[in-house]
Formats: sequence, structure tokens, C-alpha cells
Amino acid sequence: MSSTTTIFLVFLVSISLCQGEKLVVEEKDAPKLPKLKQTQLRFYIKEDFTGPDPTGVVIAQAASTNSSSTQFGLTYTFDNPLTLDLENTTDVVGRSQGFFSLTSKETFSATVLMTLIFNEEKFNGSSLVVAGRVDSADGLREIPVIGGSGVFKFATGYCDIKPIDIGGGIEIPLYNIYVRHYY
Ligand SMILES: *[C@@H]1O[C@H](CO)[C@@H](O)[C@H](O)[C@H]1NC(C)=O
Ligand SMILES: *[C@@H]1O[C@H](CO)[C@@H](O)[C@H](O)[C@H]1NC(C)=O
Ligand SMILES: *[C@@H]1O[C@H](CO)[C@@H](O)[C@H](O)[C@H]1NC(C)=O
Repeated sequence: MSSTTTIFLVFLVSISLCQGEKLVVEEKDAPKLPKLKQTQLRFYIKEDFTGPDPTGVVIAQAASTNSSSTQFGLTYTFDNPLTLDLENTTDVVGRSQGFFSLTSKETFSATVLMTLIFNEEKFNGSSLVVAGRVDSADGLREIPVIGGSGVFKFATGYCDIKPIDIGGGIEIPLYNIYVRHYY
């Protein structure tokens, strides 16, 4: 069965299940959550925009993007490995997948939406959703963590990003994430 047929059948089944159902299934006092923890995570994001098998690719731009000094409108999608070591590329602890667009007409800054998916120990399969603005000229680069799944359900926090200059005009972002979550 083709995947399109499968999706269509699932859609039909959900429609028939919905008949006579109510939108609100239950309303009650929120159940007590486990203890609120604060976890700090630290890793590098290895981006590659130019190699033969890039982890970041341009998916859209405007007709005016090329004549913009801030590349306004240029949009990428990416799937980057997260590593613990600056040089070692085999110690992959997760991936960052998402999009960013250059969204300023005045400075070189991007709006990013990404999911960080982890594969380490108790974080295996859990994810964090990160969304916000990064300006390459800002000394302070912080992006909010707006949610998560798995051990990161109800997560809130922020990413502190430091670009590490490794020479040759290449910078590798070091992420320190401070996240509050219940588990
Ligand atoms: C913008 O520049 C890129 C790279 O030089 C080129 O591939 C693209 O066709 C240009 N786009 C427009 C709309 O001129
Ligand atoms: C890179 O990391 C892997 C997995 O943690 C480890 O087995 C390997 O020895 C490391 N290589 C170097 C050069 O540090
Ligand atoms: C993480 O979960 C996947 C899928 O369940 C499993 O294949 C993998 O071995 C797990 N990795 C670790 C480090 O536990």
C-alpha cells in the first residue's frame, strides 16, 4: 500500500471516529507534576553549508535578496549533528533540525525555529523546541526554549550561544542550554 493511501485511510478513520465526539475530553485540576529540575546541556552544533553533503541548504529567497546588504529573505533548512567535542565529529549526541531566515533589513540577523533531538541515555528520543532571533553582531546571543517532549515535557528555558573561532573564518557555535522541566 502506498504511503499516500495509508495517510488517506488514517484520515478517513479519524473522521469516522470523530462523529459524535466532543472537542473537550476532560477538564480537571492539573495533576501534580514531578519535581521541577534545572538541567544544563552543553554541545557544539556542526553546520556545513558548503561541502558535498551539506547539513544546511537554501530553500527559498526573494527576488530582492541578492541586492540586500543583509540578505533579507534568504531561508535555509538544516539537519546538523550535535557533538560534545569541538574536533571529534563521531561523538554525536543528537541533531538540530529546523529552519532559519534572514529577517532583518538593517542587521545581519536570523529568526530560527528548530527542534533539538537527543540520543543520549535518559534523554534518548526527548526533544527541545527552540525559537527566536539571533543577531551575529550581538555579544549576547540567547534564544528561548519554548517547549519539549519526553523528559522535557513542559520545558522552558534558554540557549546561550557562543561562537568559537576555529580559524579560516569558520566559527562553530557552542550551546549551553539552561532548561527547567519536570521528571
Ligand atoms: C542570486 O544569487 C545566486 C547566487 O549567486 C543565484 O544563484 C541566483 O540566481 C540569484 N537570484 C536572483 C533572483 O537574482
Ligand atoms: C571521538 O569520540 C568517539 C565516541 O565518543 C570516541 O570513541 C573516539 O575515541 C573519539 N576520537 C577522538 C580522536 O577523540
Ligand atoms: C536510543 O533509542 C533508539 C530507538 O529506541 C535505540 O535504537 C538506541 O539504541 C538508543 N540509544 C541509546 C544510547 O540508548
